[in-house]
Order: sequence, then C-alpha cells, then structure tokens
Amino acid sequence: MRIAVIGGGYVGLVSGACLASKGHEVLIVEQDESKVAQINNGVSPIHEDGLEDVLMASLGSNLQATTHLDAAVRLSDLTMIAVGTPFNGNEIDLGQIEDASIAIGEALRDVNRYHVVVVKSTVVPGTTDDLVMPLIEKHSGKRPGLEFGVGMNPEFLREGNAVSDFMSPDRIVIGGIDERTRACMAEIYAPFGNTDKVFVNNRTAEMIKYASNALLATLISFSNEIGNLCSAVDDVDVVDVLNGVKLDKRLSPILSDGQRVQPEINSYLAAGCGFGGSCFPKDVNALRVYGQQRNLDMPVLDAVMQTNANQPLQMLDLLKKRQINLKRAQICVLGLAFKPGTDDVRESPAIPLIRTLVDSGAKVTTYDPVATDEAKKVLGDIDVTYAASMHEAIDQANVIMVVTSWSEFAEIPALIAPRAYQPLVIDGRRMLDQHAVMHYEGIGLGAQTPESGSDYDEHDHTGRMTSAA
Ligand SMILES: NC(=O)c1ccc[n+]([C@@H]2O[C@H](COP(=O)([O-])OP(=O)(O)OC[C@H]3O[C@@H](n4cnc5c(N)ncnc54)[C@H](O)[C@@H]3O)[C@@H](O)[C@H]2O)c1
Repeated sequence: MRIAVIGGGYVGLVSGACLASKGHEVLIVEQDESKVAQINNGVSPIHEDGLEDVLMASLGSNLQATTHLDAAVRLSDLTMIAVGTPFNGNEIDLGQIEDASIAIGEALRDVNRYHVVVVKSTVVPGTTDDLVMPLIEKHSGKRPGLEFGVGMNPEFLREGNAVSDFMSPDRIVIGGIDERTRACMAEIYAPFGNTDKVFVNNRTAEMIKYASNALLATLISFSNEIGNLCSAVDDVDVVDVLNGVKLDKRLSPILSDGQRVQPEINSYLAAGCGFGGSCFPKDVNALRVYGQQRNLDMPVLDAVMQTNANQPLQMLDLLKKRQINLKRAQICVLGLAFKPGTDDVRESPAIPLIRTLVDSGAKVTTYDPVATDEAKKVLGDIDVTYAASMHEAIDQANVIMVVTSWSEFAEIPALIAPRAYQPLVIDGRRMLDQHAVMHYEGIGLGAQTPESGSDYDEHDHTGRMTSAA
C-alpha cells in the first residue's frame, strides 16, 4: 500500500521505516528539513537500536522522507498522523494534530479516489471523530465514509526497543468509523502474521492506549510508594519485598514442570527515582484532565503523578541522610536519558535532580552514553560538566548518583574499588549490589543494622567519604 506518515519523530520514523521493510511504499513527511536530510542519508535523528539498518534496507526503493505533505498525501492511499501531542500544563495540546488534519484535508481536495486517514498519535477519546474528521471534511470538501475513511491505530512501541516492538507487536488496535476503513487498516498489517488484532471504534482505540499507559505508570508509582515506606523501616529492602510479591502465582505462574513464567509486566514492579519519557507523564496527565473535564475525580491517577513528581527528590533525601554538604560536594550524576536504550531526556528524573543539586551549590558532573547532546538542550542554562566517559565522570566524585540503568554502570563497584577515598553511591535504580560498594544508599532501602551489611557512618568536612580501610 502507498502510505504517507506525517511526523518523522520516534513513532513516525520507526513506523514508516518498519512498514517500508514489510513492502509498503512509504513517504515520511517531516517539517524539520535537517531531519529529512538525515533520514534520506540513512542517518537516524534518534538513537534507536537497529533503526539505521531498517532505514538503509528501504531507502532508494520504497522509502523516502520529504517536507512536502501535500504531494505525499496525494500520492498515497492512506495517511498516518504521527505528530506530537504534548501536555501543555493544563491539557493535551492538539495543535499539531489540528495543523496536520487541515493540511491533509487541503491535499485531498483534488484527489478523486478513496483515502484513509489514520491517527497514530496518542490522543484523548473523541479527538479522531470530533476534531480530525470534521477538519478533513471541511478542508477537503469530501464526505467521511464515502470519499474518505478515518481510523485510529495507537502505537505501543517502547523507546529503546522501538524497532523490535514495531516488527513484533503484542497487539494491533484498529479503530475506524466503518468496516471499510478498518479493512483498509488491516491490510497494512497483513504482513505482521497472527498478531492479536482488536477491531473497535475510534474512541475505544484512543482509550485503550491511555488505559494501557496509565496501568504501567500506576504499577511504577505503587512500587515507589512501597519503596519510600521501606526506606522508613529499619532492615527492610523494597527489592526483597517486591521479589516476594512477584512470586504470587498470579504474577509469575508456575508451569507443570515447576518453572516460573516471568511476565515482563513485573519489571514495572520496581522502585526507583521515577518514570519519565514522552509518554507516561503526559498521557497520565491528559487522562486525569480528560476525566476532570467530565466532572469525574481521578484520585488514583492524581496520586500516580504526585508520587512520581516527588520521586527524583528521594535521591536528595538520601544525600541529606548522609549529611552531605552540597556546597562542598563533587557529585556525579550517571544517566540523563529517561531510561536505557534511548537518547530521549523528556521528563527524565535526571533533569530536576541536576537542577536542584546545582541550585544547592553542588559541583555536578554528568555522563550518559548517548543522551548528552539532548540533555545540553534542556540544561544549557546551568553550570554542569559533561564527561565523555563514565570513568572521567566518576573520577573526582565523592558522591555518585545512578539515575538511568544503563548496563555499563554496573562497572561502578569495580572502578571505584581501588580508590583510597570511597565515594557514596546512591542507586536510583537499584541496579547495583549494595554490598559491592563501601558506602551505599538506594531507593527503598531501610536503614541497615551493622550485621545486615552497612558499615558507613563517617564523612570528613569536605564531604568526601573516608575509607573504612
Ligand atoms: N515516543 C514514544 O515512545 C511513543 C510511543 C507511543 C505513542 N507515542 C505517541 O506518538 C505521537 C508522536 O510521538 P513522538 O515521540 O514520535 O513525537 P516526536 O516529537 O518525536 O515527533 C513528532 C514529529 O512530528 C513532526 N511534525 C509535527 N507536525 C508536523 C507536520 N504538520 N508536518 C510534518 N511533520 C510534523 C515534528 O517536527 C516531530 O519531528 C505522540 O502522540 C506520542 O504520545 C509516542
């Protein structure tokens, strides 16, 4: 099928490249000329495993990026809208969706064959039917259901695993105003085998996406609330607690041979310094407000967001617990991306944490394997040193704070072991063995009695940890 994808960001670029790899003819429409040039040269503007290989496989044959929305829509049978839908502080901002819908409508004015427009962006229920469809109808002069169809096909890919998630989806949700629209959309996904498909109306498709993200965010905030409670209880560690919880056979079923199934959803039952990214915070907020606008209280989702907003600050509480003098401290923050595998720093807990540390007078050095350039765009106004390697970042630090669980950070204990002065390691992702470093604090770790392994109780006046040796 000939497909135009409007928006060449995480979702548009990955969807477009992957659909081309399945044999469709794809035109990715992106307004940012530099991104278009990069894509057409086989260079991905975002860090995503395997994406450049998928791009290279189809560029020059059935995949191309362009700034010309009008031409791309006219040349296609189906247009996907994959533009941003940010939360503006009050509600979801549908400005990019509106602009794209108007432009698609204008492009369709002189097209005399049936065309389907599909919303792939995450939008609140009613957006596709009550905003996108009327705008296309008005600006094209065509009739929905007769001359064009309108569908909603939410995307579930996870940044960091985007290509493999798109290529091997767990479900495909196909919303549409009628059977003809849904049949057209199903054709796009014909090469994806027997993946479960859910055929629904547009509002239901929109709600499925929000409900999915709200559930995952709720699991994280639940884990963080339990973790914060564990921190206040001597000799209790949230890692042990949640491991015990996850052994419930409804969470990890026991097979007839005695083996446990470990569903991936259990990875959301883990305490840490908070969730970020371009989806969970904005989607949960958008859903809360959507409910409130319908006179419904959304107390669970309110609490999910409140717990999450406070979570990066738990890292500061751990500094206070160790009576670190921030004005004298050399702090290394490891990880800027909101999660490993991506260079996306949107809503990353590292950002408010670094800002608060610098405001408090700390000297901050930071390192991320891929997200440094993105972080500089949002932290450019403050005095932070960006190290080129983890080794360089931790070199002079007397406190190391782990914010993103990049696997290379597992080397910290071995790297600091030979030092005379042992830094305090604050583990915001509980990825390190607490006994492998001399001075350790972690989210959700209650005060440890000496026999349970913690030997830290000293620091000198520079804020530097003294060696226990
Ligand atoms: N990022 C994710 O992991 C993810 C996962 C699932 C769903 N989503 C949803 O998908 C949507 C897109 O998210 P994203 O992360 O890809 O956003 P993004 O900001 O990375 O990309 C959006 C792109 O659209 C371009 N754009 C906007 N208006 C345009 C227009 N009229 N013409 C051409 N280009 C235009 C922008 O320049 C930008 O490059 C959002 O609704 C998001 O919630 C995102």
